[in-house]
Amino acid sequence: MLSKNIQKALNEQIAMEGAASQKYLAMACWCDDAALSGCAEFLYAHSEEERMHMLKLVRYMSESGAKPITPAIAQPQLVYNNILDLFETAYQNELKVSRAINDLVELCVQEKDKQTENFLQWYVTEQHEEETLYRGLIDRIKLIGTEGRGLYFIDKEVEAIWQEKEKAEADTAA
Ligand code: FEO
Repeated sequence: MLSKNIQKALNEQIAMEGAASQKYLAMACWCDDAALSGCAEFLYAHSEEERMHMLKLVRYMSESGAKPITPAIAQPQLVYNNILDLFETAYQNELKVSRAINDLVELCVQEKDKQTENFLQWYVTEQHEEETLYRGLIDRIKLIGTEGRGLYFIDKEVEAIWQEKEKAEADTAA
């Protein structure tokens, strides 16, 4: 049985992953509006991933006999200054999620909850991948620059990353 503290922390994480899904959805819409279809597809897919992160926590709590709380939907940020601002915001959000996951793991250690600690290792690895991905994207955007055809090339670059990820996931599932 999960302790009260662990249940509370897992529910907070559920809310955080749900909010992340909404944030990426809003970012995808912003990109669509800016005619950046590659970035939009990447972010629509990421929004789905965050929903999957939320569901994984929900199911873990249910399986453990605890009560997951479906989070309220808050209005995410809708407007960004430019594509760099958007990806910087995404990266900062990922850093925040990583800190929350680390705190959760720390709580598991304190509460001697090995099962939840073990379950959360998947999130630790996932966060490392996401941080690396967004940091890499920001570096490329800075390198390419957003002037002239820069935006077009950034969009193609992000689209290629999205397609690569989709293929890797399809190969894993096969
Ligand atoms: Fe599931 Fe990227 O936080």
